[in-house]
Formats: sequence, structure tokens, C-alpha cells
Amino acid sequence: MELPFAESWKIKMIEPIRKSTREERETWINEAKNNVFQLKSEQVYIDLITDSGTGAMSDRQWSAMMLGDESYAGASSYYNMKDMITRITGFDYVLPTHQGRAAENVLFSCLIKEGDVCPGNSHFDTTKGHIESRGAIALDCTIDEAKNTQLEIPFKGNVDIKKLEAALKEYGDRIPFIIVTITNNTCGGQPVSMANLRETRILANKYGKRIIFDSARFAENAYFIKTREKGFEKRTIKEICLEIFSYADAMTMSAKKDAIVNMGGFIATNLKEWYDAAKVKGIAYEGFTTYGGMNGRDMNALAIGLDENTEFDNLESRIKQVEYLGKKLDEYGIPYQRPAGGHAIFVDATKVLTHVPREQFPAQTLTVELYLEAGIRGCEIGYILADRDPITRENRFDGLDLLRLAIPRRVYTDNHMNVVAAALKNIYNRRESITKGLKIVWEADLLRHFTVELKKVE
Ligand code: F0G
Repeated sequence: MELPFAESWKIKMIEPIRKSTREERETWINEAKNNVFQLKSEQVYIDLITDSGTGAMSDRQWSAMMLGDESYAGASSYYNMKDMITRITGFDYVLPTHQGRAAENVLFSCLIKEGDVCPGNSHFDTTKGHIESRGAIALDCTIDEAKNTQLEIPFKGNVDIKKLEAALKEYGDRIPFIIVTITNNTCGGQPVSMANLRETRILANKYGKRIIFDSARFAENAYFIKTREKGFEKRTIKEICLEIFSYADAMTMSAKKDAIVNMGGFIATNLKEWYDAAKVKGIAYEGFTTYGGMNGRDMNALAIGLDENTEFDNLESRIKQVEYLGKKLDEYGIPYQRPAGGHAIFVDATKVLTHVPREQFPAQTLTVELYLEAGIRGCEIGYILADRDPITRENRFDGLDLLRLAIPRRVYTDNHMNVVAAALKNIYNRRESITKGLKIVWEADLLRHFTVELKKVE
């Protein structure tokens, strides 16, 4: 008999979690104005709001924290981190920041001016926010197939080369850089193929443009290249990572994902002029160039986390769990963005709550339903997160409306996944009776989903 798959680690420390009653949850979600970001964590049983900063560190990471060097300038922890980043990415200049959006803020403040256009593949909301708040446009050039959730193709996060070339022709000098997100979070944790990264590079060279990789989940992307793209089967994840980054001029990184730390980020590049410009902004916004918003101990943990999570076994354990949840939903017929993503399952809310009009935000409605059903906290990646169009101020309904179930790294077991799937099945069984959604009673101008207040439509 072939032995079944099991994780490449065992558990050394646990954290208790607690169930609640439906009555309790009704009170709490009311108090939270139907926004799960406003819940207290102890009001949540299984927390799938994000895979960002929520992973479990290894014993090696914890022990490296004890050796953290907290010197203001020139800390050995900075050099541990920098050397690991250089080894994995090939980039020599490394500027720490406190998290990914801070890396975007520092780098974009050197590169973007009003009226610019930044083409890319489904920019993440903070990335879009940092572009739009500078009076520039985040132009989505993702392949159209990404919008068909039921289509199963291996690299659904790819850049549409034709759309990108049209943008390069149309906007010319207004384009300061192209930004490619690996994996593509907003369209379902979907990867970008090496062939597509290479083609994007060739096109950028043709038009004399720079490329930035938004790299939060680059190691998961490398896993998909190894397991899905011809010619990479025998290459190690670290070898694949080096080739990936050979196609970029710079990277912004939220280390809270694939470096498995609770806080941290960085910019890395080989362009001295970009580094020199960014370090000035970095010092002003984040801190000196060898800590930039991070503790020495956190930089040490980041170095080890990157090393561990660019090993196949660790990535396989993680991605197989996401797949496991996907297979459970298949069993129950619940539609999600196919194939299962690297960090999350994205339930296609418009296909589940077919009676809730888009103006009443089906994915947010499903997020609230799932919380009420079992205390499970997912997150809307849909019409609310899309914010309003900066010019027309209309809601943007042209993207997908998804409930994201993001799975923290090395935290939950497959038994937890069974509970999540069963709770969704219960909702799916009574979906015909859910006909009313939510309406916004207060919202911020930008990044509204964190603080939006909603009311049930009567
Ligand atoms: N880029 C991508 C692709 C992301 O997914 C995120 C964060 C960021 C940049 C910003 O990084 O949070 O460290 O400032 N995504 C989290 C999420 C918040 O839940 O998907 P950050």
C-alpha cells in the first residue's frame, strides 16, 4: 500500500482556541457592524482572515530570535537577513521595512508621480492603494481566464502579454514600471509561469521598462512552477527562485507570508540608483537602513524562515493542505476559484448566493454567514475590497466577488479544514433562502474593507 501524505513537521507548542454559540456570534457581528475585521480574535474559532503574519515559526526560528542583534546600525541580524535574501533572489541591495505595504510606500514614493500608469496582474489592494493615492492608475493586465472561476488552468495568475504590450504602446513614458504579483493573491492565489515571467521581461526590455515583483508568496509560486511547468521538475525550489528573480529589477516583499514571520518586509534590487533613492525615503519613514522598522530578532527569524520555506517539503505540506480543503468543497459541490490556490481557497460567492444582488455584496454576505454558522472568519476579496473607481466614485463590479479562506502556515490541522468545509456545506444547502445581503452605512475613501460599516438589507 502506498503511504499517505503527511506534514514534514511535528507540533511542539499549541495555543487553545474556543467555540462560541450562535447567539454570542450574532451579538458580536452586530457590534462589529458586519465587518469581520472589527471582531476580537477571541470571538473567532478558526481564523482564516489571512495567512499574513499568522504562521507558526519553527524551533530554528525561535532559537535564532534569541541571537537577535539589536544594534541601531550594522546589526549582524541585518547581514544574516541580507545574505539569505541575496542567496535566494540574487539581489544585492536590501532595505528592510516593517511590512510589505511599507516597502511599496518607500519604493513607490521614489518612482511614481501623478498621472503615471502602473500595469500589472491584479494588483493587491495595498499596492493599488499606494499607486492610486499618488494620482496614478493601477492598470490590470491579468489574463481574462482568471475571471472564469470554473476554468482549470495551471497558471491563472499570468500577465496577458497582449494587454501589457497595448498598455506600453498607449502610455509610453507615463509608465514608471511594470509590477508582477507572484502568486497573484487577488485572483485566487494563482501562480505565474516562468515562461510568462520571461515573456514579460522580454517585452519590458523592448520598451525600456523596469519590472518589480510583488513577491509576498514567491516561494509558493516556485512550488507551482516546479510541479506544473515542463522542464522544472528536477530543479530545486531555490534554483527556481533564482531564475524567477533574474527577470525582475526589484522586489517588494511582505515577509509575513512566505518568510513565515509575524512582522517584516523588505525591498531588494540590483539597481544602485533605486536603492540610493529608496534608502533616503526608508530612513524617513521606516528607520535606518539596517533595521527599517524591524527588530534584530525578527530579521534573524526572517532569514531562517526564508531558508526553510524555499525547501520543497515545507511548501508541499502547506499547499497540500489548501488542496485538501479544495477537495472537500468539491465533494460538496461548492464552487471556488479553480484550481486551489497557493495560500487560500476563494469561494465564488456570486455562484453560491445567486439571489443576493451584487449591489448587496454577495461575498461579504457569505463571509458574515460563515462566521455566524461556525465562528470561522474568512475575508471578502471582492466588490468591497475593490474600492470605488477613483474618478467616477462608482463601486467597481468588474472583478470577482470571492470569500477567501486563507490558511495560515503550519497552524491548523486537516480536522479544522473538515469543520470549515462542513460549515460551508450547511450554508450551501440553505443558499436558496438567502436573498438579502448588506448595505454600506459608512466607508473610507481608500482601503475601505478594513473599516467599512454594513447593515443587513431588510
Ligand atoms: N502584496 C501582496 C500580494 C499581499 O498579499 C499583501 C498583503 C501585500 C502586498 C502587503 O503586505 O500586509 O505586509 O503590508 N496581504 C495580506 C493578505 C494582508 O491578507 O492577503 P503587508
